[in-house]
Amino acid sequence: MIKPATQATFDEYLNLTSPLQDLLDGNRRWSAARHAEDPHFFEYLAKQQSPKYLWIGCSDSRVPATQIVDLPPGEIFVQRNVANVVAHSDLNCLSTIQFAVDILKVEHIIIVGHYGCGGIQAVLDERRLGLVDNWLRHVGDVAEKHSSMLATLDVMALRNARLCELNAIEQVTNTCRTTMVMDAWERGQKLSVHAWCYSLDNGHMNDLNMHVDSRAALQPAYENALQRLMRLPAAQQR
Ligand code: CO
Repeated sequence: MIKPATQATFDEYLNLTSPLQDLLDGNRRWSAARHAEDPHFFEYLAKQQSPKYLWIGCSDSRVPATQIVDLPPGEIFVQRNVANVVAHSDLNCLSTIQFAVDILKVEHIIIVGHYGCGGIQAVLDERRLGLVDNWLRHVGDVAEKHSSMLATLDVMALRNARLCELNAIEQVTNTCRTTMVMDAWERGQKLSVHAWCYSLDNGHMNDLNMHVDSRAALQPAYENALQRLMRLPAAQQR
């Protein structure tokens, strides 16, 4: 038989604080501040989301989507994974793209890499981290494909920067080849796919000049973006 709670244990229960109390307190402060700024903020957000952008970025805690492009909640639909990979068999990412394109009708998909990415560095160092190594093989394939360009960079930081850029460009290609994106273009839906790379050093976003808005535009955009990278040393673009 369960013993009835004494008044003392009941009081203890009521006063119980969460091990994450700091975060919960922060949440209440944030909510109060948003409400003070605009009393209709949550009312408007709760009714709908109609973001124009799908962000596919790295899980890295230093690259939060809406914050670094100065947009409020509700403006960007987000998918993040280690090293911002779009793998053809990743049901998670494919489902996010499908929902974003077919249901939300986003107009832009942005692949966002970041300089100094730990996942990219692990590939360059051929470091064993565990299960994630299998995921990072996708980045390893990108490194292998562009090994001659990477070999021209003898400083590791530059090689990291270049592989971050190449990876974002290759993931744009993968995104453009998904059935969801090809079908959207086929039916005339307005949709562009872009590659960016973010600098943790100064908070600047680097546009990698890869913008694809149709099936026919993919190959020329890919070649242009690669040629531009070959002309400029990685450090000069940041
Ligand atoms: Co990263």
